[in-house]
Amino acid sequence: MLTSIKSNHLTSSGQRLGMMYFRVAIILFGAQLLMGLIAAIQFIYPAFLFELFDFSVARMVHINALVVWMLYAMIGATYYMLSDETEHEGVAIGLGKLAFWVLTLAVTIVVLVYIFIQIGPGKESTIWLINEGREYIEAPRWADIGIVVVVLIFYWNVFATYLAGKKTGIMTVMVANLLALAGLYLAGMFFTDNISMDQFWWWWVIHLWVEATWEVFVGTLAAYALIKIIGAKREVVEMWLWIEVLMLFGSGILGLGHHYFWIGTPEYWWEIGALFSALEPVPLIAMFVHVLYDWGKEQGINGEKPAINNGPAMAWLVTNAFGNFLGAGIWGFFHTLPQVNIYTHGTQFTAAHGHLSFFGAYATILIGTMYLGLQGAYGVKQMKATFNSKMGLFLSTFGVLGMGVALTIAGYEQVLVERAELGAGWNAFFVAQDLPWYVQAQLWRAIMGVVTLLGFVYLVLDLLTIGKKARAAEA
Ligand code: HEM
Ligand code: HEM
Ligand SMILES: [Fe+2]
Repeated sequence: MLTSIKSNHLTSSGQRLGMMYFRVAIILFGAQLLMGLIAAIQFIYPAFLFELFDFSVARMVHINALVVWMLYAMIGATYYMLSDETEHEGVAIGLGKLAFWVLTLAVTIVVLVYIFIQIGPGKESTIWLINEGREYIEAPRWADIGIVVVVLIFYWNVFATYLAGKKTGIMTVMVANLLALAGLYLAGMFFTDNISMDQFWWWWVIHLWVEATWEVFVGTLAAYALIKIIGAKREVVEMWLWIEVLMLFGSGILGLGHHYFWIGTPEYWWEIGALFSALEPVPLIAMFVHVLYDWGKEQGINGEKPAINNGPAMAWLVTNAFGNFLGAGIWGFFHTLPQVNIYTHGTQFTAAHGHLSFFGAYATILIGTMYLGLQGAYGVKQMKATFNSKMGLFLSTFGVLGMGVALTIAGYEQVLVERAELGAGWNAFFVAQDLPWYVQAQLWRAIMGVVTLLGFVYLVLDLLTIGKKARAAEA
């Protein structure tokens, strides 16, 4: 069945489809960074591109591109693992390919409309054709429906291949989790003109993605990658995976309450949100231990032998273990109690957490999986980190960390001046943004953004060349 994968370096058709998704993901990642830089410059020079390409639009494209590239990379990773884990060729990869092109065409149209049309009148037609106005998942209604069809094809491929092939623990978790992940998207699709209700459901998508289903997803990726890269024992990684699933859903689902402090939901959410969201770092520690413990252990067993067969993938995986814990666990915990959130809500502190967590928990491991994919695609046993791999990882991570620190400082100043001292009014909002700490922090964020972009350039260079280099080294 899998002889084609083993005998030539090009992978199974599912794996090839996975690589196609990775390519688009990287392009969208680049677009995300450019939009972020435009928005960052507008913080410093508010007149920059004013009325041509406003902050609201740059920000919208920045965070929508973020979500979409990550979903692309997740679909890519799933297609990549699918035939390997189930030992069965994907059942409907041809259809999957068609879905890929439909989705990519739709994403292109949506982005062009965001960029060139930007806004429409406050009517139904705008929701259908331009954007829905729901932060992070702003795609217009027609695209929403298209996405559902494409995802059904994707899910059918995964589910039917799973049924037909070998059923590992990793794949079982993946199949169940993907159903929840895809199903949650529906909660962000229907429209109500009660803003509290609208926000209530919108958070189901945003929070239950990043703090439950996406976390479980990267748990399955880490488990799979550790088997591939360091030959970790399946029983061990799968045991960790089940523990994480249990804990993540335990704290993540009711942790949703930390978004219900401000939107007009009943007050009992304060206690529920405080308690369960404060527990959320616990599974993140488990994920941290999962990667580092398995790594240390397997190296010990293997003694002198080179234990890591894909240097860059492993480096990104370890960055993920730290980044997830730091960005989501620590930075999330900082502002999750209502007693703290009353001061920090919606400040730059939130933006610091948003950057550190999305990068630390997701960008890192998805990039690592791309390296794993390249290793398979080039059929090389050993993939060593190159100068470009190191620069890519170091500069982008350093840049995002720098942005996180700068924004934390800006947020701290907002808490003290805007919230505590001046009483959180409209005027206070502007006064706080004119003070030196805030202004300098925004400057540093832009500088660190450029560093991040530079890291991205090295990363792309590396992704384009490392396979050939590794193959040449092996020959
Ligand atoms: C990888 C996982 C996570 C990601 C990607 C993430 C991302 C984000 C983002 C982007 C926001 C801003 C949402 C908006 O635009 O309003 C946010 C808000 C928030 N996050 Fe997270 N988060 C993660 C995990 C966590 C964890 C584990 C906690 C708590 C322990 C947490 C606590 C919060 C809180 C309290 C807010 C609301 C901030 C406010 O009131 O302004 N997050 N998160
Ligand atoms: C070139 C580097 C980047 C720059 C200059 C940049 C800049 C920005 C700016 C100006 C905003 C709007 C903040 C606001 O509304 O106050 C923003 C939001 C955001 N960015 Fe970035 N960004 C960059 C890279 C990234 C990366 C790598 C990620 C994650 C992987 C990311 C995730 C986010 C998120 C989640 C938000 C929304 C935060 C919130 O709602 O609180 N950005 N970014
Ligand atoms: Fe949350």
